[in-house]
Amino acid sequence: MVASQLLAYMAILVFCVLKASSLDTFLAAVYEHAVILPDATLTPVSREEALVLMNRNLDLLERAVISAAQKGAHIIVTPEDAIYGWNFSRESVYPYLEDIPHPQVNWIPCNNPNRFGHTPVQERLSCLAKNNSIYVVANIGDKKPCNASDPQCPPDGRYQYNTNVVFDSQGTLVARYHKQHLFIGEDHFNAPKSPEVVTFNTTFGRFGIFTCFDILFHDPAVTLVKDLHVNTILFPTAWMNVLPHLSAIEFHSAWAMGMGVNFLASNIHYPLMKMTGSGIYAPNSPRAFHYDMKTEEGKLLFSQLDARPYHPRVVNWTSYASSIEAVSSEKQKFKGVVFFDEFTFVELTDVMGNYTVCQKDLCCHLSYKMSEKRSDEVYALGAFDGLHTVEGCYYLQVCTLLKCKTTDLHTCGDSVETASTTFEMFSLSGTFGTQYVFPEVLLSEMRLAPGEFQVSDDGCLSSLKPTSRPVLTVTLFGRLYEKDCASNASSDLTAQARRTTLIVMICIVHLLSW
Ligand SMILES: *[C@@H]1O[C@H](CO)[C@@H](O)[C@H](O)[C@H]1NC(C)=O
Ligand SMILES: *[C@@H]1O[C@H](CO)[C@@H](O)[C@H](O)[C@H]1NC(C)=O
Ligand SMILES: *[C@@H]1O[C@H](CO)[C@@H](O)[C@H](O)[C@H]1NC(C)=O
Ligand SMILES: *[C@@H]1O[C@H](CO)[C@@H](O)[C@H](O)[C@H]1NC(C)=O
Ligand SMILES: *[C@@H]1O[C@H](CO)[C@@H](O)[C@H](O)[C@H]1NC(C)=O
Ligand SMILES: *[C@@H]1O[C@H](CO)[C@@H](O)[C@H](O)[C@H]1NC(C)=O
Ligand SMILES: *[C@@H]1O[C@H](CO)[C@@H](O)[C@H](O)[C@H]1NC(C)=O
Repeated sequence: MVASQLLAYMAILVFCVLKASSLDTFLAAVYEHAVILPDATLTPVSREEALVLMNRNLDLLERAVISAAQKGAHIIVTPEDAIYGWNFSRESVYPYLEDIPHPQVNWIPCNNPNRFGHTPVQERLSCLAKNNSIYVVANIGDKKPCNASDPQCPPDGRYQYNTNVVFDSQGTLVARYHKQHLFIGEDHFNAPKSPEVVTFNTTFGRFGIFTCFDILFHDPAVTLVKDLHVNTILFPTAWMNVLPHLSAIEFHSAWAMGMGVNFLASNIHYPLMKMTGSGIYAPNSPRAFHYDMKTEEGKLLFSQLDARPYHPRVVNWTSYASSIEAVSSEKQKFKGVVFFDEFTFVELTDVMGNYTVCQKDLCCHLSYKMSEKRSDEVYALGAFDGLHTVEGCYYLQVCTLLKCKTTDLHTCGDSVETASTTFEMFSLSGTFGTQYVFPEVLLSEMRLAPGEFQVSDDGCLSSLKPTSRPVLTVTLFGRLYEKDCASNASSDLTAQARRTTLIVMICIVHLLSW
């Protein structure tokens, strides 16, 4: 009697423990942080001054962590560069760096703050996680001494890394990731010799992590999803919006859908440099997003997510387009530049129709119906198949329906944030030579379109209903990683240095031309 009761009790206990050890859903929080920047960024400050500045940012992050925990969030993601900004030389960023050990040391900085030297930032982040029982994701700087025994050791005798850290709800350091693809102006950091593929397991799924510009490349981003089967990507970023195809909310939500993962994107809030746009994206639809060029305020977003979202079917991104006849139209083709790439365009002259436009191996097909054909607005269908070489070097295949900035066809591809034409329906497909295609739908005033479109197994992006707002762009953004400049040269530091110089020079020209 007693024994069987005990058994039943134990069975219930075991059941409860098993149940608790694996959650079906979790509450995610993402914080868009209005970073407080240091005054002088080229003259090195003292370690004390650096800490004062970092603590001012940490005070704001702390408020966000506490509110997130009070709402029951399991994890909160904060942005890249959120604790000290981005505008540094190697020397001037040094006072902000800490030695960040490998997570295998099993360290709770909050309990044992002096184990790895002077690490007050890690201590504070760890205590925030522990005190509030929440996973905290942050971006800080790591320093690692090196010497002549390493031929690649920089002349100042240390590596400096742009680093994401994750503390679990006990305050333990569970992940450390060094950014691989540094962007222009990040000369104060080094890239690791080979891409780091960093994952960790929780009761609410398996997580992978990378940073900002990394999202454009194969490693580690694609590897985390394809080979390590992570459920959710953590993505601290300091993302400058570039329209029509690379605004933050647009591209990050498209990556989540294209790769079939949850994606937690936390951006800096700094409208002066076009940095805004954070979100919580599930594979089938954006769940929460924020874009704000008007205020100076940070913003905390929440959403419930499936811990292990339905693993996506494989989409054949060429099948649908290959099956339809090219509409051999006598429509006039024209060239237009989209973020430095020369697209082939055709104007959508009618209120509805079927159009085809090709470039090299890529043919794009569009079926559409506008609610009206306005005389003050021009839309075009464009195709691009080629190597993008400005601000990074990566091979693209893109099919895009976009609103031209003005009725002058020369402005097709220029940045524009508002439109007046809604679409009754659209259906876009292309003969892509890759399985990596990211479907984007961006509406007027920078809004996403959750629940308004779908992607079929044979690679067609189509509307489910008339668009809720006027359309800025409907795009299939494809990546051919194997044709990238640096597809196997990531450890070739001299080539990388040459490239960086070239990119910086091109960037300066680009900035001047703004
Ligand atoms: C970067 O720092 C330099 C020197 O401190 C300053 O002149 C420049 O305005 C800064 N740029 C930004 C974007 O903050
Ligand atoms: C965490 O809690 C301890 C003890 O309650 C407190 O001393 C410390 O200031 C707290 N730290 C943070 C970052 O919340
Ligand atoms: C050089 O660095 C390695 C570790 O990176 C260390 O083991 C070694 O002692 C250092 N050598 C000298 C001469 O400092
Ligand atoms: C996570 O768990 C899986 C098994 O479910 C295991 O293969 C993997 O090594 C674990 N990853 C980490 C980082 O512990
Ligand atoms: C995708 O579809 C095309 C055309 O229907 C077919 O030729 C190709 O083999 C398919 N690719 C895969 C990987 O199934
Ligand atoms: C466009 O193509 C679809 C089939 O893909 C066809 O049903 C429709 O009639 C065509 N529309 C026009 C205006 O040609
Ligand atoms: C990449 O590797 C291939 C074969 O290993 C080689 O032919 C090619 O030149 C390499 N590309 C670069 C950019 O190093």
